[in-house]
Amino acid sequence: MIEFKAVSRCFPAKEEPFLALDNVSFAVDRGEFVCLLGHSGCGKTTLLHLLAGFITPSAGEVLVEGKPVRKPDPSRSVVFQEYALFPWMSAIQNAAFGLRSLGLDKAERRARALAALDMVGLAKESRRYPHELSGGQRQRVAVARSLVMRPAILLMDEPFAAVDALTRGELQGDLLRLWKETGVTILFVTHNIDEAIFLAQRVAVMRRGAIAGERTRTAPYPRLRGSESFAAEYRAIEALLYGNTEELLEK
Ligand SMILES: Nc1ncnc2c1ncn2[C@@H]1O[C@H](COP(=O)(O)OP(=O)(O)OP(=O)(O)O)[C@@H](O)[C@H]1O
Ligand SMILES: [Mg+2]
Repeated sequence: MIEFKAVSRCFPAKEEPFLALDNVSFAVDRGEFVCLLGHSGCGKTTLLHLLAGFITPSAGEVLVEGKPVRKPDPSRSVVFQEYALFPWMSAIQNAAFGLRSLGLDKAERRARALAALDMVGLAKESRRYPHELSGGQRQRVAVARSLVMRPAILLMDEPFAAVDALTRGELQGDLLRLWKETGVTILFVTHNIDEAIFLAQRVAVMRRGAIAGERTRTAPYPRLRGSESFAAEYRAIEALLYGNTEELLEK
């Protein structure tokens, strides 16, 4: 469904242009849940933004359903790291926001936004404003705002980084449920190895603008964090992340 074909992306810099993505080839199947994992600055957000259509490749092609991505589209919805809710809008108004661009009437927008809030367990809080919601609830509204567009692809950039560990666990469980219910394809960026193993069918580990390796995991959901296979997977991903022991010692 998604294909990166030898994609590079440069950003202008003072001396020479900075190569944020270097010849990346990478594909995602329909309905897959893939995590992109890597150190800060390795190019995860750049990859996601290319797929969203916010930026274009310097070389290579990004294809969705065989067609090059040229601009943003409601079928590819992004959940950002920051909650990015409008503080002057209630939960339902925030959730309904993107629907204006689809030309739906008010009743339809309301019904769809309420259904999306219900999917994230916030139907009762629909009239609250962001300042009246907890951090976890705000992030649920952000997820609802994406779901309301009924996207084929959900792009999530560190969506749960700002919430506490317990809430994060709940949001992860909710996301897996939503993924099963909707069949949406998910590309999820994280710094957190544990989160990637808990969520993804496949983890792509990035290093310095490239995909260093991938791990496919068929373990059934819900996954047990204490299990031996979880720990083994953790070690395997760590090895990909650090590449070799020399680099481990440098850190
Ligand atoms: N608009 C830009 N102009 C110049 N350099 C940029 C721009 N956007 C990103 N970069 C650089 O490209 C590299 C990759 O950035 P990117 O945001 O993709 O990293 P990331 O893996 O998402 O990091 P983090 O985990 O910290 O969010 C970084 O070194 C960054 O400084
Ligand atoms: Mg980033």
